[in-house]
Amino acid sequence: MSARPFAVTRRAALAGGIAGLALAVLPLPARPAGLIPTPAQSEGPFYPVELPPETDWDLLRMVGARPALGTVTYVEGRILDLAGRPVPGTRVEIWQCDATGRYHHPGDARGPVDEGFQGFGRVVTAEEGAYRFRTIRPVAYPGRTPHIHFAVTAPGARRFITQMYVEGEPGNERDFLLNSVRDAQARAKLIVALTPVAAEPDALRGRFDIVLPG
Ligand SMILES: [Fe+2]
Repeated sequence: MSARPFAVTRRAALAGGIAGLALAVLPLPARPAGLIPTPAQSEGPFYPVELPPETDWDLLRMVGARPALGTVTYVEGRILDLAGRPVPGTRVEIWQCDATGRYHHPGDARGPVDEGFQGFGRVVTAEEGAYRFRTIRPVAYPGRTPHIHFAVTAPGARRFITQMYVEGEPGNERDFLLNSVRDAQARAKLIVALTPVAAEPDALRGRFDIVLPG
């Protein structure tokens, strides 16, 4: 049904020269300045095959286990759409290697793991689209700069996968996955500054807002 109006418009454009052609151009989708979609990244091989006994927001404590090794780090942010609106009801999952650099995954058989680390967490955003995890500062492992994997599933949307990186890590310059995002402005969306928490000595916090690609 839309072919005929388009054909008429195109004919009018051709007949009308430059001015007519301008009328025939479809408008670009509205996007507020500064809202660049968070780049997607590959899932990698270490999404849990079997979920840990607990999957809550605090990856450092599990009932019956000693506290995890590593630097306490709060990672928080909001899930937004391209228009900047918060997306409530979104499932946010993270997974990362433990402080010894090992994933809790049968595919990572490089040695004993930190049994006190949950390795995976899952929350659902509330009205304001916010999420929060208590985890460890990510560490490097062979071939990768420190990172945290994210899987984000908004209501009615496909699962969105990305990775969060830490500002100032020397390995960021060489990391093939981070640098697979060629656009520097987009790449910067994946890099988060971790800063001290005033009320909690030795703890860090970082803000990682995720703008879904739509
Ligand atoms: Fe990884």
